[in-house]
Amino acid sequence: MNDRAMFPASWGALDRSGTRQWRVTASQELAYEVRQVDGLFDPLSQALLTCNESGLPSTRQVVVIDERVDAIYGRGIRDYYHHHRVTAHILTLPVSEETKDLDAALVIVRHLEAAGVLRRSDPIVAIGGGVLLDLVGFAAGLYRRGVPYIKVPTNGMAMWDAAIGIKTAVNTLGRRNRLGSYHAPSTALLDRSFLKTVDRRDLSNGMGELLKLAVIKDARLFDLLERHSAMLLDSRFQDPVVAPEVIEHAVHGMLEELAPNLWERTLERSVDFGHSFGPLLEMKALPELLHGEAVALDVLFSCWLARDRGLLQDNEVQRVIRVMRSMALPLRHRFFEEPALLMEALEDTMRHRDGQQRLPLPRGIGRCAFVNDVSLDHLKAAARKMADA
Ligand SMILES: NC(=O)c1ccc[n+]([C@@H]2O[C@H](COP(=O)([O-])OP(=O)(O)OC[C@H]3O[C@@H](n4cnc5c(N)ncnc54)[C@H](O)[C@@H]3O)[C@@H](O)[C@H]2O)c1
Ligand SMILES: [Zn+2]
Repeated sequence: MNDRAMFPASWGALDRSGTRQWRVTASQELAYEVRQVDGLFDPLSQALLTCNESGLPSTRQVVVIDERVDAIYGRGIRDYYHHHRVTAHILTLPVSEETKDLDAALVIVRHLEAAGVLRRSDPIVAIGGGVLLDLVGFAAGLYRRGVPYIKVPTNGMAMWDAAIGIKTAVNTLGRRNRLGSYHAPSTALLDRSFLKTVDRRDLSNGMGELLKLAVIKDARLFDLLERHSAMLLDSRFQDPVVAPEVIEHAVHGMLEELAPNLWERTLERSVDFGHSFGPLLEMKALPELLHGEAVALDVLFSCWLARDRGLLQDNEVQRVIRVMRSMALPLRHRFFEEPALLMEALEDTMRHRDGQQRLPLPRGIGRCAFVNDVSLDHLKAAARKMADA
């Protein structure tokens, strides 16, 4: 990363009252890689060990790993480091949406301190699902005002969503992701073989984000999901043909949307589709609704809103419902049938979008429109449709 700062060569200008003022402008170059890898922890793989600034193999790494992932892969991971004579400082963390908070971030910070992390040369390796990646990113962004880290996503939600962008967060004040930062990883390493041990419900949950992306921006991805979702879920994305294509579409689509708008200067974001009503509702419904399930319900609700204004046809909504069924995603939740609560959720989202709805809705499958005039009556009509599902 290169910082470029412009500082006036001459003394600062005098304003009309005779007070001197200085103005600094700076820009920061940002670069990170998202890379597909096979067998990340195979003894022969060097991918994880050369992801530092020097590109030379590391001799030690600081690792934070999801407790459940450690239970399954911990032995192999420790053997890998041992094989390469790399000292690994490993912190195993229990993770859940309820404990994705400042306390958990501080546990990570203490680990970094105890390990004596070097400011630039010891990237922190985060191995786990979306919660673990968000927590480590958050802690890495705060520690010494930012140290490098590597994302190793191990479930679907993390692999095609949380690992791809630069946002980090913790939950607080009963709100999702209320504290957070933009802190890019140096690298995200995507190893699909991790998915083979993910629970069916957790994988289905991750597929909620695939559904979002397909409906709002990628008709080809929708087509693939329409034909293969059930197989992908059953095979845990281990088939050699369709799964890689689906993941590539998802990663590419995410990057296409995120890269030109990494810091969210533009608040009209198609990837916010499915994230307009769900964020508040899923926090109220914890631990009953998982994030991707709330996204999927929000997608369906938004499809009914789009149907109501002629942006989608009935048969297109039915296709979305069929894909949700084949992904084993829920089609109903009582919160999506309560217009007052949906309005409260939309109002909270409007504050996030600086006072406007900026609501992404599908315009046919695979294209996006933004609207700003959704009323309580519209919410009531869509809520009735949800209840009929
Ligand atoms: N920063 C972002 O851009 C971004 C994007 C999407 C989601 N997120 C965040 O991600 C979180 C949701 O992530 P999640 O759904 O992954 O939840 P999670 O991290 O709680 O993971 C769900 C479950 O999967 C398990 N798991 C992970 N890998 C596994 C494996 N290989 N085998 C078996 N089990 C495995 C975990 O232990 C956990 O029990 C939310 O907090 C959301 O805000 C962030
Ligand atoms: Zn999401």
